[in-house]
Amino acid sequence: MSKRYVRRFSRTERTLHWANAIGFLLLLATGLILYLPSLAVLVGRRPLMQDIHFWSGVGWISVLAAIVVLGDRRGLARLARELDRFDRDDLRWLAGRRPAPQGRLNAGQKINTALTAAFTLLFLVSGLLLWFGERDTRFRFASTVLLHDGLMYVSLVLLLGHLYLAMIHPATRHALRGITLGTVDEDWAARHHAKWRPE
Ligand code: HEM
Ligand code: HEM
Repeated sequence: MSKRYVRRFSRTERTLHWANAIGFLLLLATGLILYLPSLAVLVGRRPLMQDIHFWSGVGWISVLAAIVVLGDRRGLARLARELDRFDRDDLRWLAGRRPAPQGRLNAGQKINTALTAAFTLLFLVSGLLLWFGERDTRFRFASTVLLHDGLMYVSLVLLLGHLYLAMIHPATRHALRGITLGTVDEDWAARHHAKWRPE
């Protein structure tokens, strides 16, 4: 029997996801080179690494903003409304009670998306303060680096869970098709996102 596929993520959503992922991983790598003494010694050239890290951050945010402005803004507004809505089944799902039929994004994914967006803004604000703080003491605060490093630790934990679900866990790794090609198997969608009515 041939499989039927339904559209899960729009082109704008997929572009946003991969631009975000590439930028984040580049910043994580250069950030860790600045943070871990063993890597810092191995790579050397600290001022160059600081410049690459900072300007990648500025580039990352500019690309994300450009995708939002030039992409399907109506679709993104719909996504924002989707993230904002937590119904009874979402709360049951978070409490581990089943059955708890889920919409296009399950309650965990809604929280993950909201946290990812909030962390991106906080990375930007703390990163800019670190940069300006190096140049003007009025922008230097004791907790800025704690915030920037804390965000890195929490995002790292979220990312490891995310990669496990996306690439290893047999029940969920079909989702990789949705975030690359845009479509997923109709039966998989019905099993995992029973309340979602794909167009
Ligand atoms: C807009 C985004 C970002 C900007 C503007 C930014 C900017 C900066 C700046 C200016 C520094 C100080 C560099 C120094 O003087 O040594 C720094 C350090 C660092 N950043 Fe970022 N950053 C951004 C995003 C990220 C992200 C996404 C991560 C990791 C996922 C990250 C991880 C780190 C780490 C680990 C350090 C070293 C902190 C330390 O020495 O304790 N940054 N960042
Ligand atoms: C190689 C790296 C990555 C892979 C393979 C990957 C894979 C995926 C997949 C398969 C989905 C769709 C889930 C579904 O349809 O149910 C997704 C969604 C998402 N990804 Fe990624 N991703 C990667 C990196 C990242 C990074 C670095 C971030 C953020 C820093 C991120 C944030 C998100 C968010 C917020 C969503 C939507 C909500 C969710 O599914 O949790 N991803 N990703």
